[in-house]
Amino acid sequence: MKKWRCIVCNYIHEGPMPPESCPICSVGPEHFVEVEESQGLSGEQKRLAEQAIFKISYGLYIIGSQAGGKVNAQVANTVFQITSQPLRIAIGVNKQNLTAEYIRQSGIFSVNILTTEDHDLVKHFGFQSGHKVDKFATIPYNLGETGAPLLQDVFAYLEVRVIPAMTVDVGTHWLFIGDVVGGKVEREGEPMTYAYYRSTRR
Ligand SMILES: Cc1cc2nc3c(=O)[nH]c(=O)nc-3n(C[C@H](O)[C@H](O)[C@H](O)COP(=O)(O)O)c2cc1C
Repeated sequence: MKKWRCIVCNYIHEGPMPPESCPICSVGPEHFVEVEESQGLSGEQKRLAEQAIFKISYGLYIIGSQAGGKVNAQVANTVFQITSQPLRIAIGVNKQNLTAEYIRQSGIFSVNILTTEDHDLVKHFGFQSGHKVDKFATIPYNLGETGAPLLQDVFAYLEVRVIPAMTVDVGTHWLFIGDVVGGKVEREGEPMTYAYYRSTRR
């Protein structure tokens, strides 16, 4: 829903259009400006905050899911453990992504943990959508016990069941929170961080 701010008294109106008149100071709609989604930050404040937000550390992962017998996966950095008792993690997935659609339908996903050798996988799963190509046509995988795809040569993985009451609508993305129902480190490797990926991508 759009938000409109009265430039005279700062009253905020929510709706597709500004109000006929401000209920606080009675000025007309011409005295309302749309509130940008900048959360009240000035351009400079936003620029500075964005610089700081880039200093948050992340890893890089391939999130897989399955629905209706079809598998798909995408790259995500927004994966984090929330609790250890029970083992519970959260991921942030754009609503437009096919992976989000599959997770919503099936309630399961895998987290394939990438290593510093996996730049090609980031390109393959992060820069094209399953809406257009079958990303697993050329990538060997197995199905985990939840039915979510695990890369055959995976370094380490988790399998997760989404807790339905804990799926949060955060605007452009879903925040899926789920219980870890399986996982294993399969081989030697150095986990890829987002910072390492950004400094070494070709
Ligand atoms: C380095 C990197 C990090 C990404 N992180 C996320 C993320 O955390 N959440 C998300 O929804 N998309 C993220 N993406 C974008 C998706 O991987 C991308 O949109 C993908 O094509 C979606 O595929 P799908 O439509 O087949 O699910 C990231 C992409 C890259 C390259």
